[in-house]
Amino acid sequence: MATERTLCIIKPDAVEKKTGGAILALLETAGFSVVALEKTHLSKVVAEGFYAVHKDRPFFGELVTFMTRSPVIIAVLERDDAVAKYRGVMGATDPVKADAGTIRKLFGANVGENAVHGSDSLANAKNEIAYFFAANRVAPTA
Ligand code: CMP
Repeated sequence: MATERTLCIIKPDAVEKKTGGAILALLETAGFSVVALEKTHLSKVVAEGFYAVHKDRPFFGELVTFMTRSPVIIAVLERDDAVAKYRGVMGATDPVKADAGTIRKLFGANVGENAVHGSDSLANAKNEIAYFFAANRVAPTA
């Protein structure tokens, strides 16, 4: 299986609850390496740009308000089959429907405040990583 990178955002709800460290520890235990990491407070423009694909969805305004409410932790994760493996560890979008032991089941509250974001494809992972991390802030792929 090829080594891949994917983007994780630990969302404001999880950072506010001080569970960011526990989520990163869970990811390391699950075999991911954190190859870049940043804590930042997203501006409205940055959040709207990141979620532009959802701009026509009824929850877009709520999503942007939530994501800009307080700081987030953004991590680039690396391992074999990282995109699919991280989606498995993350769990379903709605924490109520997420499997036991997944990040969203453990730390999420509802479909909006669901603790973490994860890239949904390798192509989107590349775009999302580049959105937050200039190439000179991420170690080159081995
Ligand atoms: P995320 O993986 O960050 O990608 C888009 C986000 O939109 C998703 O996680 C959810 O948190 C959010 N989302 C999806 N559906 C809804 C909804 N019905 N109401 C509020 N937020 C939603």
